[in-house]
Amino acid sequence: MENMKGKRALRIKIISMGNAEVGKSCIIKRYCEKRFVHKYLATIGIDYGVSKVTIKDREVKVNIFDMAGHPIFYEVRNEFYKDTQGAVMVYDVADRSSFEALDHWLLEMQNEIGNQTEHDNVVVCVCANKSDRKRVVDESEGRLWADSKGFHFFETSAQTGEGVNEMFQALFEGVVTAVENGGKKAPFQTQLGYTKDQIEAIQKLKNAKSDYERMGVQVGATKDEVNKAYRRLAVLLHPDKSVAPGSEEAFKILVAARTTLLKRCS
Ligand code: GTP
Ligand code: MG
Repeated sequence: MENMKGKRALRIKIISMGNAEVGKSCIIKRYCEKRFVHKYLATIGIDYGVSKVTIKDREVKVNIFDMAGHPIFYEVRNEFYKDTQGAVMVYDVADRSSFEALDHWLLEMQNEIGNQTEHDNVVVCVCANKSDRKRVVDESEGRLWADSKGFHFFETSAQTGEGVNEMFQALFEGVVTAVENGGKKAPFQTQLGYTKDQIEAIQKLKNAKSDYERMGVQVGATKDEVNKAYRRLAVLLHPDKSVAPGSEEAFKILVAARTTLLKRCS
């Protein structure tokens, strides 16, 4: 059982998550069997498969638990979250509700794993799947969500194969690195040169319910306070300086919010 480097073969546990019909089983099939099935065959409860790969000169036996996304299978899949080291979290770029469901899936995993440290060390790859279809969820939206959680992000198509091998490679490498580090996941770094502060500012500007909330000031804030908040956010988000996805749109929202609030001040 020992390879060239004298390390024992590793066994790792991977799960798939995401709404029914987003393409979880097809992504796994594309990777393991190099083929694609058009017909929808809903997973019943859970499917299990094993794949052998070599990662960082090390023989790795991957146990894949492919979960059924439909809510009726919750009682079946819930017991399979324990001891998970890596997760493929899938949504369909042509179905917004499947993207919006990601928070729910994350919560389900968190609840089932129970232990916060264990949960935080699960390596997650978010798949924006069916990238071959007409999309309603922009790549930047998906990337932003993944980045804000410290997850990897890939645009994939089980049909064409786009991104699938790269995604699994990153997932396995992430898990093996964590195992070699005593089970601790490597701290997340976006490779794109933007920060968590920038991502959070963009999300807040896009999702907040009022201009006060968008700019992070109290209702009835003074001109000075509004301008100060504006300057802080403008430094983070100015499109000339920020490469974070969605900066430009967020910056426009920021400018509009500032204008509205300043009018209310006088
Ligand atoms: P559950 O097992 O019910 O949770 O669904 P699932 O997420 O495993 O979905 P599955 O892989 O069975 O795929 C659902 C449907 O989407 C099937 O009809 C697939 O052919 C189709 N599909 C999956 N991936 C892609 C893709 O990348 N592009 C396109 N166009 N269709 C896809
Ligand atoms: Mg399935």
